[in-house]
Amino acid sequence: MRPRRTIAPPHEAPPDSGVGARYHIETWGCQMNVHDSEKLAGALEQAGYRRADVADDADVILLNTCSIREKAAEKVFSELGRLHELKRGNPELLLVVAGCVAQQEGEEIFRRAPFVDAVIGPRATSSLIPTLARLRGGNPARLRALDIEYREDSIRFPFDLIRRESPESAKAYVTIIEGCNHRCTYCIVPTTRGREICRPLEEVLAEVRALAASGVLEVEFLGQTVNAYRDASGHTLGDLLRRTAEIDGIRRIRFTTSHPAQMTDKLVQAMADARPMLCPYLHLPAQSGSSAVLERMRRGYDRRGYLARIEALRARIPEMLFGTDLIVGFPGETEQDFAATLDLLDEVPFDTVYSFAYSERPGTRALDFGDTVPLPAKLERLARLQSRQRAIQEQRNRRFLGRTVEVLVEGKSKRDPSRWTGRTADNRIVHFGADTAAGRLEQVRVAQTTPYFLYGAPVAT
Ligand code: 5AD
Ligand code: SF4
Repeated sequence: MRPRRTIAPPHEAPPDSGVGARYHIETWGCQMNVHDSEKLAGALEQAGYRRADVADDADVILLNTCSIREKAAEKVFSELGRLHELKRGNPELLLVVAGCVAQQEGEEIFRRAPFVDAVIGPRATSSLIPTLARLRGGNPARLRALDIEYREDSIRFPFDLIRRESPESAKAYVTIIEGCNHRCTYCIVPTTRGREICRPLEEVLAEVRALAASGVLEVEFLGQTVNAYRDASGHTLGDLLRRTAEIDGIRRIRFTTSHPAQMTDKLVQAMADARPMLCPYLHLPAQSGSSAVLERMRRGYDRRGYLARIEALRARIPEMLFGTDLIVGFPGETEQDFAATLDLLDEVPFDTVYSFAYSERPGTRALDFGDTVPLPAKLERLARLQSRQRAIQEQRNRRFLGRTVEVLVEGKSKRDPSRWTGRTADNRIVHFGADTAAGRLEQVRVAQTTPYFLYGAPVAT
């Protein structure tokens, strides 16, 4: 193939530069990425692009990618192989790689997939529309764009664009902090997302007020280290929670993801003050139950420190429930270290656990330790951990049989469209049959439980 020139990202485009074109977004990864896709879709819609439900109908396909583990990153390249076929049939089609793989791999993406038209990092999303305008206006066969700058404007985004994406939803995500200043030795995020930047408190509150006025009942504040939030005037997450709890119409407040080392007593007090609007469920990644492993991970707390945070939260908010992330097979993890992680499941216990086999990531400091736990051992530990947690969740959910829970309806169940799906304030997923609609609060009597879901029917009111 003829070498193609890389163009510098332009920063302006006519407001209607996308009229007549259709876009399709595929999203991998965390809640931040899901929300970033909502924002990117909003920007595309505002520029006149319309959504195509399937990739085959699109003029622009955007992959919003995740590089947290090697598997996730590799999936992007296999998907690109598939899309190459589409592009062969439609040379005008524009392929954009965004998200963490874009940041991590940069130019390398053009080397492995020369048919890609643009690579745009998660902190460079403001150049998406102008870049597409240039590519569409020029000859796509000869131009391509790379923008992996760390800019501050990525965090600012008008809420109405997002609302247009999901007008019926009563739940909204609001990014308040982006990036991460920690240096956990296994993690690629500080490289892909850059250092922390925070939105001003008043700007966040204005967005929440506008969301509430448009019917949003539940708001979830997002950030890789959301509890590190501190704006230029010194306002903290605690200030934001208290102020949000006072906004008319907001019934539920959540935030994710928190770092245990920054779960200060002041924040815990603010959480208690924001009850009952603040939901009694907190995702607090422990990563390991072994102090020796936590030390090598550079998490900034040990097992006792983690448990002390859980206790501090329970002391102020007795009804608080917890979820966590755990990594198994971190370099040097012994059977004894792993037993300490298993034991943590019993000691807390958690209602949700996301567990992962350690995966080496480029540029991280854990590479120096080597990948010492063989894959079969990692997978065996993962299976033991998941089966233990499954039994715990089975028991914990069974307590809900016969109880009535309040559910914020999110939409039709994906698996069974005759059912609706929503969440309780403590984050349990509930499926139920009823004549209802997204955005309603329903009282549901639980008739059946599994380790992962509750099933039931609304009680007559
Ligand atoms: N290998 C395995 N899991 C990882 N995570 C982050 N980096 C890695 C890695 N290199 C997990 C952590 C984090 C979650 C989002 O992904 O548990 O909290
Ligand atoms: Fe990664 Fe640690 Fe930052 Fe979380 S706190 S994003 S695990 S470096």
